[in-house]
Amino acid sequence: MKALITAGGHATRLRPITWNRNKHLIPMANKTMLAYAIDKIVDAGITDIAVNINPGESEIQKEIGDGSKHNCQITYIEQQGGAKGLAHIVKNAKDHGFLDGTPFLMYLGDNILLADLSAMVKRFKNDEMNCLLALSKVPDPERFGVPEIIDGKIVRVEEKPSAPKSDYAITGIYLYDGHALDAVENMKLSDRGEYEITDIHQHYIDNNLNIGYEEITGWWKDTGKPEDLLIGNQFILDEIKTGDVGVHGDAKVAQSANIQGKVAIGKGTVIADGVLIRGPVTIGENCVIHNAYIGPYTSIGSSCEIYETEIEHSIIFDDVTIKCGKRIADSIIGKGATVVAASESKPSGHKLIIGDNSLVEL
Ligand code: G1P
Repeated sequence: MKALITAGGHATRLRPITWNRNKHLIPMANKTMLAYAIDKIVDAGITDIAVNINPGESEIQKEIGDGSKHNCQITYIEQQGGAKGLAHIVKNAKDHGFLDGTPFLMYLGDNILLADLSAMVKRFKNDEMNCLLALSKVPDPERFGVPEIIDGKIVRVEEKPSAPKSDYAITGIYLYDGHALDAVENMKLSDRGEYEITDIHQHYIDNNLNIGYEEITGWWKDTGKPEDLLIGNQFILDEIKTGDVGVHGDAKVAQSANIQGKVAIGKGTVIADGVLIRGPVTIGENCVIHNAYIGPYTSIGSSCEIYETEIEHSIIFDDVTIKCGKRIADSIIGKGATVVAASESKPSGHKLIIGDNSLVEL
């Protein structure tokens, strides 16, 4: 089997974070969303993986490389002709030659899930299915592709229906055989101007092919909005592996520092006096933390300096400096940002240099 991961698009709802960073490279618990997707696929036994990217993309290739870090081979496919929807990505991968009729797993790179995909892949193969979709029960199915299910069979699928026929979302994990490549010929644009993935699913139904579903056990989320990132980070930190917890390499923790719960501290980091860390928390490499409280569900990147501040339930990227005497909560702070107390320089007052579409609550 092969796999196709989507990692293009412009993620406008996640600006300003996505002005200069591909959404799929946003770190959660200090690992990028795309790296989680790749590892899930490799864990399910698939190692021939293509990643769909925007034309001209280079950051993803720099970060992820040829796949050897993840024990797989990665082919990068630029999406030609603009972002025209998920089914267009399948067509593009077919025209590229990567999709050649071999069954494949399609994985939307902004989906985060805790479940293991091995059982789903095994069922698809063993039962010789044509298509297998991962579903998840959601409170707001109208935001997603939604199946209509009668007697345990999917009889119809609709994209973002105003009157959903079930309370399931079709998540961003699909297993297809070669028929998906027939479905992407002669497609029509939807009202929102996209070639819809639901039209591929519907093709399987219309042609009486063997289409099934699997309800995702555990947690699943597509990360469209900033609050989704914080929730995703929270769930990933809840599952932090015992092997990752602890003080790594030459990291140093002062005797007076108090570390509670599951906390991972990267190489070269110094946790100095007056620090309380209450996990689950991950802290990257070469950070300095002094006289600060780091509360549950916080991920701090590498090379950060944090003094005289309280932070919880937040994602702090690399190279961030914070020294503000305040409590920061539910925040996402981008790479290289500085947050300091107004009293550090005259005149006092809030001095803000903030990118477009930022949100600041003072
Ligand atoms: C896309 C698909 C939709 C699916 C969702 C899952 O929606 O079109 O069928 O339920 O991903 O994340 P979009 O992210 O384009 O709104």
